[in-house]
Amino acid sequence: MKNWKVSPAQGVHGSVRVPGDKSISHRSVMLGGIAKGRTEVTGFLAGADCLATLEAFRAMGVAVERLDETSLVVHGRGLHGLAGPSSVLDMGNAGTAIRLSMGLLSGQRFTTTMTGDESLRSRPMERVAAPLRQMGAQIETTAGKPPVTVRPATQLRGIDYALPMASAQVKSAILLAGLYAEGRTSVTEPAPTRDHTERMLRGFGLDVQTEGPRASLVGGQELTATRVQVPGDISSAAFFLVAGCLAGEEGFVVENVGINPTRTGIIDILRLMGADLRVYPRDIQGGEPVADIEVRRSALRGVAVPPELVPLAIDELPVLFIAAAGAQGETVFTGAAELRVKESDRLAVMSEGLGAVGVPNELLPDGIRIGGGQRLRAGTIDSHGDHRIAMSFAVASLLADEPLSVRDVTNVATSFPGFVATARACGLHIALA
Ligand code: S3P
Repeated sequence: MKNWKVSPAQGVHGSVRVPGDKSISHRSVMLGGIAKGRTEVTGFLAGADCLATLEAFRAMGVAVERLDETSLVVHGRGLHGLAGPSSVLDMGNAGTAIRLSMGLLSGQRFTTTMTGDESLRSRPMERVAAPLRQMGAQIETTAGKPPVTVRPATQLRGIDYALPMASAQVKSAILLAGLYAEGRTSVTEPAPTRDHTERMLRGFGLDVQTEGPRASLVGGQELTATRVQVPGDISSAAFFLVAGCLAGEEGFVVENVGINPTRTGIIDILRLMGADLRVYPRDIQGGEPVADIEVRRSALRGVAVPPELVPLAIDELPVLFIAAAGAQGETVFTGAAELRVKESDRLAVMSEGLGAVGVPNELLPDGIRIGGGQRLRAGTIDSHGDHRIAMSFAVASLLADEPLSVRDVTNVATSFPGFVATARACGLHIALA
């Protein structure tokens, strides 16, 4: 098992660039694969999660050329051009890969079985399977979890579905099945979630309507190949944004970060806590707004985080818990029950990790209460194989006077290959242990 020893660091400096957005990278291969023609992707995240999607689509007959580490050409086969894979598709650690594919595969004329690693095999899939069955899809889960088998349906029908939880993966799976359905497919969400699927489908020439919380499309439209420029992932930038708030020297900048408004809850939450954080818009890349973000050491204070910001910062909450540990006073997060079904139970695992380094906290059914303001003590944190937990505790070294041990860090490569080198270059002290 790979572990880190993270020694106390004084500050972070310079500028960093983070790898491409994970959500957008997955979608670029999926939509490129079912489009007509040649889709060029730049800024692709060559992390294990997105590479699992890439290999899955290759196994279904899509030729993908890798021009360099982050540039791809996807030779799309058209809406009905995928071929049945010769074996089970292994989606690794990637929830987005399996859930979005369940939707897309519901409309195919072949049978596919998908599985994943131990973490993925413990995650709920009925939230996707149930609405897809309402559309006529033939899907079997294994007691609600992977492996999942998708068989050919006679004909999918559009539905008008109200999501019971704020989930972009469920919304996206239904819309992707909707491409193959008769009539209109609509999804209404209880709170805004990332809208990369809707934006990218439009980039591929589709008419996708959004009216308030409802997104819809009519089935049968062909996608036309396009260029996809993937911006830096705000979920990876998050570690450096928090590091900058805790210990950034003047001029510490995270460059080229996607700031789609369905993803910027972290900026709002840090500002509520008193962060000095400046956003310098750059341009629009692949239908997504992009900015450089400058952040500096700030006197953070504890807050009650408005629950409506939670879905807009869902993957950034673990590192926001570290910001809370460094803030004066108590911070309370609620409305975050979805964290219990991520790559790990992120509420329980963060609570355990914070406790191991002496941060007072109380686990709530849908959140956590964190007492901030103390220095951390030496301790061992088990990431439970969750990439974002491991990286969060690397940032926590800015609050520590003694080294921290972080266990089970291999999965950092799922979303942020090169994290250690990037973190070291700006001042964190991470050693393999
Ligand atoms: C994602 C949606 C979110 C997020 C995940 C990526 C996506 O999951 O946590 O990392 O790419 O659509 P949920 O839909 O389960 O909230």
